[in-house]
Amino acid sequence: MEILPFTAMSFASNSLLLRHAQILMPAGDYLLGDVLIQDGKIVQVAPEITATEALEIDATNLTLLPGVIDPQVHFREPGLEYKEDLFTASCACAKGGVTSFLEMPNTKPLTTTQEMLNDKLQRAAAKSLVNYGFFIGATAENLPDLRTANPTCGIKIFMGSMHGALLVDQDSALEAIFAEGSRLIAVHAEDQARINERRKLYEGETNPAIHSVIQDETAALLATKQALSLSKKYQRRLHILHLSTGIEAELLREDKPSWVTAEVTPQHLVLNTESYEKIGTLAQMNPPLRSPENNDVLWKALLDGVIDFIATDHAPHTLEEKAKGYPNTPSGMPGVETSLPVMLTQAKEGKCTVAQVANWMSTAVAKAYKIPNKGLIAPGYDADLVLVDLENYKPVLKEELQTKCRWSPFEGWNLTGWPVFTIVGGKIVYERGKLNTDVRGKALRFEEN
Ligand code: DOR
Repeated sequence: MEILPFTAMSFASNSLLLRHAQILMPAGDYLLGDVLIQDGKIVQVAPEITATEALEIDATNLTLLPGVIDPQVHFREPGLEYKEDLFTASCACAKGGVTSFLEMPNTKPLTTTQEMLNDKLQRAAAKSLVNYGFFIGATAENLPDLRTANPTCGIKIFMGSMHGALLVDQDSALEAIFAEGSRLIAVHAEDQARINERRKLYEGETNPAIHSVIQDETAALLATKQALSLSKKYQRRLHILHLSTGIEAELLREDKPSWVTAEVTPQHLVLNTESYEKIGTLAQMNPPLRSPENNDVLWKALLDGVIDFIATDHAPHTLEEKAKGYPNTPSGMPGVETSLPVMLTQAKEGKCTVAQVANWMSTAVAKAYKIPNKGLIAPGYDADLVLVDLENYKPVLKEELQTKCRWSPFEGWNLTGWPVFTIVGGKIVYERGKLNTDVRGKALRFEEN
């Protein structure tokens, strides 16, 4: 895809008028009408608006949704820029309708101090086309940083599936983090001791499908149970990242305090252990893909509100790394530029509604992370928006991908709901296959965190 500054951006006015869009309203109904944006904010939503100074976009046959807020991504900068960087990742976001992201601390160096958090914020301010927020990573030793780091969306704990300082698998260290402070804790819930044991049992196995057997459902359940119990003991705000199993979902259905939230990835909903046969190690991620039956239970939990929202866990690795052969292959797959069309295609197929997708990918995320003025199309809200085409289907093409790793587990999938325009802070950042790389996002704010 070309990266070109386009004509729309040379327009002098700070006003944008979206005309004749199918607008998703806060109550989940639709209005066929216009949206006026001024100085980065939505100022009016009405059947017909006249504004002489505004740049007009004809949105006939397009559906207007709040921009996606992706609450779990790994964008690899600093230190791992050969896989991805904040510029390339944010281009992928803009193309995928993702207008804000929350990024994880397993970069090099790790984001475990205020200094490293500041470094990421500065890099993002210089490079990111979309809005950004960052997690602070927990180690067994950085309690003071976890308490005071600012601004951050929360504390990330890797209970498993991680090496080095970011692995916090000792009960005493976990307990100390839950006991200290009140800000949101997001956990990658896999039990490392069980994974270590099971890895020994399957030494020498090179079929990537064994990944789901080694890091099994019980490993996920054990860690989720432990995090839940600590959260209850200290009444601590807990978010369970990328829930992957039906048994965890059923546990939450029985026992989910009001201060606990959970997310699921599109890939845990639509891919499963059968995917290894088709795409080999490209299907390898943590927590692993599960059996097809798990897809159904996770879907039901999402539809019933047991799971609150959706994240991609965008985790790019190069094709060379993915070709090393299991178990030397890294876990993770990219997702930000396919997540919205993947989910909207599911909606078109009757799995859910478009309004539910917008809630899971924007409104509910803004609410859970207390991000003010985002996630709805209403006057006073930030103009982070995406206009999608729900009428036409188009395949995921490798040559169009913006992520630096240049592959997708969904390559060849015929999807609908592709973004046609993406708007960040009232500026068009993506328009019909072209990116406006002059746009910059802003640091997200998190209330009460
Ligand atoms: O598959 C994964 N890859 N899961 C994670 O939690 C980390 C990620 C990565 O950074 O590659």
